[in-house]
Amino acid sequence: MKVAVVGATGLVGTKMLQVLAERNFPVTELIPVASERSVGKLVEFNGQTFPVVSMENAIEMKPHVALFSAGGSTSLKWAPKFAEVGTFVIDNSSAWRMENQVPLVVPEVNEEVLTSDSKIIANPNCSTIQMVVALEPLHKKFKLKRVIVSTYQSVTGTGQKAVEQLMNERNGIEGETVYPYPIDLNVLPHIDVFQDNGYTKEEMKMILETRKIMNLPELKITATTVRIPTMGGHSESINAEFESKISIQEVIAALENAPGIVLQDNPKEKIYPMPLTAHDKDAVFVGRLRLDESHENTLNMWVVSDNLRKGAATNAVQIAEALHRKGWI
Ligand code: A2P
Repeated sequence: MKVAVVGATGLVGTKMLQVLAERNFPVTELIPVASERSVGKLVEFNGQTFPVVSMENAIEMKPHVALFSAGGSTSLKWAPKFAEVGTFVIDNSSAWRMENQVPLVVPEVNEEVLTSDSKIIANPNCSTIQMVVALEPLHKKFKLKRVIVSTYQSVTGTGQKAVEQLMNERNGIEGETVYPYPIDLNVLPHIDVFQDNGYTKEEMKMILETRKIMNLPELKITATTVRIPTMGGHSESINAEFESKISIQEVIAALENAPGIVLQDNPKEKIYPMPLTAHDKDAVFVGRLRLDESHENTLNMWVVSDNLRKGAATNAVQIAEALHRKGWI
């Protein structure tokens, strides 16, 4: 199995390499790709080192699958060229997600939309992935009516330069900045660019991608996305209204055995999900389950997951595993 990782020197790309190795994905030939300035650099995988190659060289090698995390414009330009030589592209950028013919996949929710012909597959937005993993089992049981979500997102979601900005600020070092304001000791209600409707692009991704993944085109959903100075993962306060009557016992029963979820809901023992404890884990952690006493059939919950893992690398590798299980790669 020839596997290319495009953006192999970046935060998500590095995590993809780690997750491929951890999950014993049957890689026989690893093809790391990054920008021209990194060609020839050595990348470690499974105890061996591999030189970074250019896009053109990678395409000539006709990989079976290519995991992309090198930004939207790179994906727009290069994903079709890999697809042309028969490679399945699993793209972590937002470039292809809302294209009708492109499957947008969270395996726990909608693996069935994968087909052997759809060579470009989109990996959803990190905040969307962890939210739909938590909502899907509840939707199956109670039928979702409306969602209000507010996020508390880690700087790792912006990439290596954002981590450097936070650490520089913390250590009193002048350096390059990627956010419009300081991030340490601050909270930015601003992720990605503002749209004409007053929402940010990140907020609109959560709204539109949730509808597509859950196949609920009419779902009432609104989002506020916020960057905070944490590293381990994204947190979300989710208020979800359902058609049917709910009880906390039934909610727990639905979540307890759902794929990809770990319940951490014991307030008496101060047990609830946090980025520090979710860091470097693959699960979506759910807790603080409460009925919304101001509105019927409505639940409040707190959902945390490592955005570089389930929010990016792990979800992409799970899609590759699904393609392999189906015998397409
Ligand atoms: P490079 O290290 O050569 O710049 P992050 O999100 O952590 O900033 O990482 C972005 C990743 O995308 C890096 O691996 C980066 O490579 C890669 N990348 C950026 N631009 C391109 C490009 N035009 N072609 C291929 N890879 C790119």
